[in-house]
Amino acid sequence: SPPASFVIVANRLPVDRVQGPDGEEIWRRSPGGLVAALEPVMQAVDGAWVGWAGQAGLELAPFREDGIRLLPVTLSDADVEEYYEGFSNDTIWPLYHDVISSPQYHREWWDAYVRVNRRFAERAADAVAQGGTVWVHDYQLQLVPALLRELRPDVTIGYFHHIPFPAHGLYAQLPWRDQVLQGLLGADVVGFQRAQDATNFLAAVRRRLRLEVKGSTVVAPYGGPRTVTARAFPISIDTVPYVELAARPDVRARAAEIRAGLGNPKKILLGVDRLDYTKGIGHRIKAFGELLAEGRLSVEDVTLVQVASPSRERVDAYVQLREEIELAVARINGDHDTMDHTAIRYLHQGFPREEMVALYLAADAMLVTALRDGMNLVAKEYVATRDDHRGVLVLSEFTGAADELRQAVLVNPHDIEGLKDAIMQAVEMPPREQTRRMRALRRRVLENDVNAWSRDFLAALDDVRSNR
Ligand code: G6P
Repeated sequence: SPPASFVIVANRLPVDRVQGPDGEEIWRRSPGGLVAALEPVMQAVDGAWVGWAGQAGLELAPFREDGIRLLPVTLSDADVEEYYEGFSNDTIWPLYHDVISSPQYHREWWDAYVRVNRRFAERAADAVAQGGTVWVHDYQLQLVPALLRELRPDVTIGYFHHIPFPAHGLYAQLPWRDQVLQGLLGADVVGFQRAQDATNFLAAVRRRLRLEVKGSTVVAPYGGPRTVTARAFPISIDTVPYVELAARPDVRARAAEIRAGLGNPKKILLGVDRLDYTKGIGHRIKAFGELLAEGRLSVEDVTLVQVASPSRERVDAYVQLREEIELAVARINGDHDTMDHTAIRYLHQGFPREEMVALYLAADAMLVTALRDGMNLVAKEYVATRDDHRGVLVLSEFTGAADELRQAVLVNPHDIEGLKDAIMQAVEMPPREQTRRMRALRRRVLENDVNAWSRDFLAALDDVRSNR
């Protein structure tokens, strides 16, 4: 295919190759916030997307899907095990989320990370037109900016980091800490979710590489001297489909049906997460279970719906988490369910967007209790959906979203008593207060949508190009 003037590089393509119910191979939308945010951006510009189709060993020619040119990268079984499950999701992911789970450091995993990052960089270098732009995404590909710059010094390179960047005291654990910083500094603009993430990154650059940091810029010697800008660009969602679906009569009818299916409880509480130890699902369930045990809530009055979509199921920490959560849910339900009502309706599944919007409409309160989260787009999806200005968002202070969504009921999920009080506050909140808070939240989310995010980031990249 002809060279593209704009190329996105991410570990995942926007679609995943999976086995359908009858064993047939089908395409499905990839999981997670990154794809949710980038898909609308790509549909607006004509570019190419370099990424993995989610299956080991799968070799695919370039193809088009929903108007996007996709350039698949092949990962072998060993690559998936060592680069994706290993270094990306058992080293970097836990380290960057404040070691909620212990990061594993293995030299073979690092070697695989270097090898696969080089493959992505080569693929992008082949795809991009002279003087074009490449936008690299997330923690799986931190070495790509520098590797790509070596191959293609003519190209403008952006990198966006979708997850937290940890404080130096933690970052310093990484045996390859200097190489990762040098990899990221290959970009012209390094974007983060929160100001604190950018500050942490710049502090690491100063302390580890002894480079001089001025405000949000640093002069990098690699392929230069070049000025690299590192700052926050808080990501968001495409709000339009949520607003549109929320207005559709069939979706509203479905929300009523969901409520009826739960036995018409007075209040529905909702949690929606990938089944990940960063999300604080266990803390949420514990708090809810205690409220039932103490009689502050009853199953006739309140049901918690927990959607926990399957994620990284071959990584040990995720296997263990699933055991813990499912045991906790079963115990609480065993103790409190009646023939007609359940305490927790637990769903280890993903659902199409329509069904999620119906669920958001049915939910009187959304519980986002992550222990650490780059942004948390589920919080923004709930807010975008509630154009009736009802519903309560309970939001962990440790999410990027909490920097923006100040009118949520903010909680420290480690403080179980505080979390219980926040749940009670949500359950008892008068409609007028719900409306006042939700209006303010919606104003924020509708203004700072994903288009504003990509516009800001790409404008920062354009500045670099014109200053050359
Ligand atoms: C988060 C990460 C993404 C990742 C997604 C799903 O949103 O920031 O990079 O794609 O989780 O995780 P998975 O491992 O299935 O790609």
